[in-house]
Amino acid sequence: STMSLESAKKVASIKAVDAFLKSNSVIGIGSGSTIVYAVERIAELVKNHHWKIQCVPTSFQAKQLIHKYDLPLTDLEANPELDLCIDGADEVDDNLNLIKGGGGCLLQEKIVASCAKTLVIVADYTKNSTYLGEQYKKGIPIEVVPMCYLPIIKKIQENFGGTVTLRMAQSKAGPVITDNGNFIIDWFVLDPKFNWEKLNTELLLMPGVVETGLFINMAFKAYFGLPDGSVKIQV
Ligand code: A5P
Repeated sequence: STMSLESAKKVASIKAVDAFLKSNSVIGIGSGSTIVYAVERIAELVKNHHWKIQCVPTSFQAKQLIHKYDLPLTDLEANPELDLCIDGADEVDDNLNLIKGGGGCLLQEKIVASCAKTLVIVADYTKNSTYLGEQYKKGIPIEVVPMCYLPIIKKIQENFGGTVTLRMAQSKAGPVITDNGNFIIDWFVLDPKFNWEKLNTELLLMPGVVETGLFINMAFKAYFGLPDGSVKIQV
């Protein structure tokens, strides 16, 4: 049910924050629905222990969350090196490779994560896959420059197969515009035996591809909240 999903997100977030949050650290704040519980916990610990931390947002949503919980906001200019980044994911495989970008925030999420010593993922049990692409219906989000979304869609379908669609907005007639003014295309892949690292590199070499939702060899640990209220830690 929805309730157990929400409590799974919450227990995973609390466990991860309690394990990794330290005073005097710079922390990347991810995006999505799970990270809300993590920020809530961060704010609680910071308040209770009078800790000093600084937060780098990965999206407009993250920035609003940081403000909402009265946490100190910073950026990569003031703090180019982060101690920790906490974020959600759409899919996590057995090797801690991720698919992200379901919420359209993958570009800043990947940039901020790449500047952090440690990336920790918080998620409910539905995000835990054996291999990437197991949850075919989600697809792989790719951020592209608007003017070339169609040639990129065609090239990906021709070169790698599957179906690629332009992500459309829910409450507007037109495409989703990212926090960076780009479009998102979703690639529904049929072959789970892809070499994701190689594929990621090939996608990034296509002119007009800004970033992919494939996070390869980036995460350090993942915390999954399970339906029974316990937390599975994947390393
Ligand atoms: C945002 O672009 C995504 O990468 C999110 O981090 C991911 O979708 C997780 O969101 P939920 O916590 O809502 O599942």
